Amino acid sequence: MELNVEGIIGTSPVLKEVFRILAKVAPTDSTVLVTGESGTGKELLVRALHRSSQRRDQPFVPINCGAIPRELLESELFGHEKGAFTHAVRTRPGRFELAQGGTVFLDEIGEMDLSLQVKILRVLQEKEFEKVGGTKTQKADVRVVAATNRDLEREVAEGRFREDLFYRLNVIPLHLPPLRERGEDVLLLAEFFLRRFCGGKGRSCLGLSPEAREMLRTYQWPGNVRELENFMERMAILCEGESITPEDLPEKIWRDAGRERPPPPPAPATPQGFVWPVLQDLRDKGLGLKEFLDTVEERLLLEALNESGGVKNQAAELLGIKRTTLIEKLKKRKLDNN
Ligand SMILES: Nc1ncnc2c1ncn2[C@@H]1O[C@H](COP(=O)(O)OP(=O)(O)OP(=O)(O)O)[C@@H](O)[C@H]1O
Ligand SMILES: [Mg+2]
Repeated sequence: MELNVEGIIGTSPVLKEVFRILAKVAPTDSTVLVTGESGTGKELLVRALHRSSQRRDQPFVPINCGAIPRELLESELFGHEKGAFTHAVRTRPGRFELAQGGTVFLDEIGEMDLSLQVKILRVLQEKEFEKVGGTKTQKADVRVVAATNRDLEREVAEGRFREDLFYRLNVIPLHLPPLRERGEDVLLLAEFFLRRFCGGKGRSCLGLSPEAREMLRTYQWPGNVRELENFMERMAILCEGESITPEDLPEKIWRDAGRERPPPPPAPATPQGFVWPVLQDLRDKGLGLKEFLDTVEERLLLEALNESGGVKNQAAELLGIKRTTLIEKLKKRKLDNN
């Protein structure tokens, strides 16, 4: 079966190694434990695994074990019978039942309570479970994939995670390396996100200056791909130039590079008296003579209107033209709104 890693950007050797293992385990029914720091793409990888498995036409059912209180998690996972607890007004299926034939993704399994861990172990070993408050044993035809950003071996050593479940889950460990170990992938990802966010905001794609590239590449990215993704979204909104330069980068990136961020540029200096436009001004603005003069005229018209609080007589006086001439000029520019 083809490995489908669409949407997972990167060509670094460490990521290719992950793909190599993924290609081997995806078609099997083995339990897989994905580990890696927060934001490294664990969920993205697990979805690719399901897409590349025999079960890809069956449900993919994720559940975040860290986001659901313990009392509710058991019923979320296994369902409950009517009357099992105060608010159980009707019988409900759990995620294992909903995932029949497919894959259950136990995200943040390191957060799971020890007493529930026993029940997960039973599903893995006996392929069966009961609803909360139920007596009927149900069969579970599901593949289980789990992920955590905790060091489960340490959790086991410290008594917070069951050793037997750890070994049962860890049949095939897949470790996603942090972004800082993926070399040039940082830049591939930066460009990928810039294309996506600039496109989404209808602006032409921002570039990266050589110096900014170097700083992005060497930054430690504690929040991994998620941090990079959020940062590029911010740039797509805030960056005013055509490319991202070191000045656009936040202080933590400068600090990481062992440099001090220069103070922000001084407020625009007040004009040092009048300077006649030169040809270079036309070239800089990419305008022809007529457009340039029109632009100058329009700015002066608007300034005069502004200064006179919209009173046209006064504005015309400020400009040294007749009121009718002013109105004519405003009409031509569709600036005349009364
Ligand atoms: N290689 C990649 N290519 C493209 N996008 C990626 C890649 N890795 C991660 N992302 C994106 O980064 C974000 C974080 O990824 P994901 O949620 O899979 O990380 P995670 O390891 O599950 O994080 P957490 O531990 O915080 O739950 C997502 O928006 C995801 O689409
Ligand atoms: Mg996640």
